[in-house]
Amino acid sequence: MVVNLDWENIGFHYHKLPFRYISRWKDGKWDEGELSGDNQLSISESSPALHYGQQCFEGLKAYRTKKGNVQLFRVDENAKRLNNSAKRLLMPEVPVEKFIDACKQVVRANEEYVPPYESKATLYLRPLLIGIGDIIGVQPAQEYLFTVFATPVGNYFKGGLAPTNFVASFDYDRAAPFGTGATKVGGNYAASLLPGKYAKDNHFSDVIYLDPQTHTKIEEVGAANFFGITKNGEFITPKSPSILPSITKYSLLYLAEHRLGLKATEGDVFIDELDKFSEAGACGTGAIISPIGAIQLKDKKHVFYSEDEVGPITKKLYDELVGIQFGDVAAPEGWIFEV
Ligand code: PLP
Ligand code: COI
Repeated sequence: MVVNLDWENIGFHYHKLPFRYISRWKDGKWDEGELSGDNQLSISESSPALHYGQQCFEGLKAYRTKKGNVQLFRVDENAKRLNNSAKRLLMPEVPVEKFIDACKQVVRANEEYVPPYESKATLYLRPLLIGIGDIIGVQPAQEYLFTVFATPVGNYFKGGLAPTNFVASFDYDRAAPFGTGATKVGGNYAASLLPGKYAKDNHFSDVIYLDPQTHTKIEEVGAANFFGITKNGEFITPKSPSILPSITKYSLLYLAEHRLGLKATEGDVFIDELDKFSEAGACGTGAIISPIGAIQLKDKKHVFYSEDEVGPITKKLYDELVGIQFGDVAAPEGWIFEV
């Protein structure tokens, strides 16, 4: 059974669902973990997660298929990325099987909140790893919490498949050249709040960050990766050590090449060479594929395909990706996990 919510207008918000998973790491090992009805965490006021940002998180979705089954998309990749983030901040890894099991438990326990297939909304899962305990010096925690909660979501960017505009940031970076940009840690998002507010105040969907060393190349969007389709039909997405390795981006690189027959590469996207692209988009779990109508570069506006209409290749990529995620299109081996 599915609860009755206004699925078409659900947006991207937190809803308190009945259950979340929680597990504790102490004395060098994880406990069994359990489902909890309590959405409040009680932790020491001196927890390193609160003071020194010793935390990392993930984002993935559960999809209801036409037949009514529920499935996860590439959850093993989220587990691996969480562990890369954990290593960078000296946190214990969460075994991949434990991560996948936690996600499945949370989906099953809240199954009635997995949106109906027809709505194209999904159940967003937020795995979170935090350092806790009584520490005051700058050092890693001795104890950790791993939790996974869920909330039903629709579009992250309000346009959905309608293009929206983005603004390039020359004054602020989200990450440093040898910093934590490639990990999913809260500090990167904290750094993006102020430029993100400027962008939204000026009616842009989000910020496009440039490479922090030279500010000549596109790195990524505040909450998604960037891709462009060149006029001769090549799929290009930035390669950089300071962007988040997006699971959606790697999926699109594969689909562009193997399903659409395009050349697909990771490479430099110079801001003074945007003319070579006929289409562009933001991609990510939340963003799915959100077409970019135009990018504002200081006082110059660069329009890609159209500010009103999604481009044909972007639409094909969207249909392929979303078709796989909802079980309508055959998935490459290992991409789908039945719940
Ligand atoms: N880049 C940033 C900064 C993000 O927050 C996200 C969202 O997770 C992405 C890229 C896209 O990553 P993924 O496709 O794995 O969701
Ligand atoms: C995601 O797409 O999962 C993200 O993390 C983007 C944003 C909600 C932070």
